[in-house]
Amino acid sequence: MSNFLKKIQEKISAFFLDEEKPLQESPTIEPNFALEDTQAVTVENDTTSLDILKDLNKSLVQKKKEQSDEIVDSDYWWCFPGHPPVENVHSFEEIDDEKVCAELNRRIDKDEFPVIEIPDNIMKTLSILNNPEFDFGDVSHLINRSPSMAGEFIKVINSSLYSRGIIIQDLKLALPRLGKENVKALLYMYSTKMCFVNHPLFNKLAENIVDHSYATAIIASYLSQRYYPDPDGAFLAGLLHDIGKLGILKAISETYKLPKKSDFEVNLEIFDNILPALHEKAGRFLAENWKVNKTVISAIEHHHDFMDCGFAEDEQLAYHLSALVNIADTIARILGYGQRIDAVNIFSLPATIDLSISRDYEAISFLNNIPGIVTFKSQEK
Ligand SMILES: [Fe+2]
Ligand SMILES: [Fe+2]
Repeated sequence: MSNFLKKIQEKISAFFLDEEKPLQESPTIEPNFALEDTQAVTVENDTTSLDILKDLNKSLVQKKKEQSDEIVDSDYWWCFPGHPPVENVHSFEEIDDEKVCAELNRRIDKDEFPVIEIPDNIMKTLSILNNPEFDFGDVSHLINRSPSMAGEFIKVINSSLYSRGIIIQDLKLALPRLGKENVKALLYMYSTKMCFVNHPLFNKLAENIVDHSYATAIIASYLSQRYYPDPDGAFLAGLLHDIGKLGILKAISETYKLPKKSDFEVNLEIFDNILPALHEKAGRFLAENWKVNKTVISAIEHHHDFMDCGFAEDEQLAYHLSALVNIADTIARILGYGQRIDAVNIFSLPATIDLSISRDYEAISFLNNIPGIVTFKSQEK
């Protein structure tokens, strides 16, 4: 028997002899070595070894199936009982939902929807990034001039998706990990957030939407390791998917005379008749203005209605990206980043089915890592 086969046998024996580890405490992703190893043994033309390997492999698959069957979904985050309902949703008497919706819709169609202004210092950074010879050192130097902007980058980069447990403070090291397009998108996001800094009524709401977007981006990028071929596109689409909500709030704050302060909590539920209906369209408008790539724009536009909008044969990437953002959005909300969500089991969502996320041992191990991946908020506290 080859050394290689012996090694596999040892692995499998170790697997069987191992005491049942509680998945929730130590999630691991078992290496998918069966196919590679089968090919390796075939090359050696060792048919007896191949039969043994097949038997062991079958046992391993069976064992994993039993393990995943034993898992009780309700013990895990992906089977979510729902957040408590929001009581006493208030409203602004200055806002007539129907009229505001019609007016904003018209402005998007007529190309009159307000774009997000990019401050000069960010414009300068963006133009450096647009130079094919750009250097991340120059970019980080400019970003570091604004401690609040640098803080936003550090916050995202220190999610364990990028930091792998080591706290990163040096932007020069961090930016290349994010990649050029994602650095640009974070600059757009930061500019958008800055629009609300002097707006006490919507400032907190804007911060919540931005944090939800960071979480969605990180989760989408993580999921893409198994379920989508482009992690950078996934991050970008996750980051910008709800940018339309911020655009709409900005348009409302500029168009309607609202009080400077309110004696009630301003939450997203107040705008439930406006944002869900319009934010995808407004998001497409803003992303087009920023010249984001077409697949990402499609995902921004269809992250809620991807099942009904009929993607063409050559748009399958956009279709899968929309589904990926949809599920990342739901997961972010389950984990407390974003608007409340009703009871849901991730494995029964249409997006999960479209992305072929089957409920097997590997998928469960992989998904179980997600709460640990999105850690940027807890590090801040
Ligand atoms: Fe959305
Ligand atoms: Fe969202």
